[in-house]
Amino acid sequence: MNYKLLNFQTHGDERGTLVSLESNKNIPFDIKRIYYMYDTSPEWVRGKHVHRKLQQVLIAIDGACTIVLDDGKARHEILLNRPDVGLYVPAYVWREMRDFSYGCKLMVLASDVYDEKDYIRDYDKFLEEVGK
Ligand code: TYD
Repeated sequence: MNYKLLNFQTHGDERGTLVSLESNKNIPFDIKRIYYMYDTSPEWVRGKHVHRKLQQVLIAIDGACTIVLDDGKARHEILLNRPDVGLYVPAYVWREMRDFSYGCKLMVLASDVYDEKDYIRDYDKFLEEVGK
């Protein structure tokens, strides 16, 4: 599967640590949208969809969560628990976000604006489309 873990350069000193994210430098696309989730808790699973075109980078900027990725052939579980690591998710990968620690803040950088037509929210429909 084509996902990648991105290790961001950190700029740290006694004042704290800074991470900078730039389109087509350490983020492998033009960033068109940023959104983030907070007030999450362990009993909820988010996501459960595929994007037809959208690329994303997910960063647990605070706390931890598990990202389940499934391309229709293989399934991987990735623990995100560092603000200096991003998970690049290409198009046509089913994703679920689960096991959110209390207080987790999950930030998502996206290659395009929000478009409901880009979503497949039914797993069997995804398998049908990806098998074509
Ligand atoms: P949803 O797709 O359920 O989030 P998740 O992928 O975390 O499960 O989105 C929650 C709501 O937010 C839904 O009403 C759509 C809306 N939304 C936007 O308006 N803009 C966005 O960029 C995103 C990602 C969601």
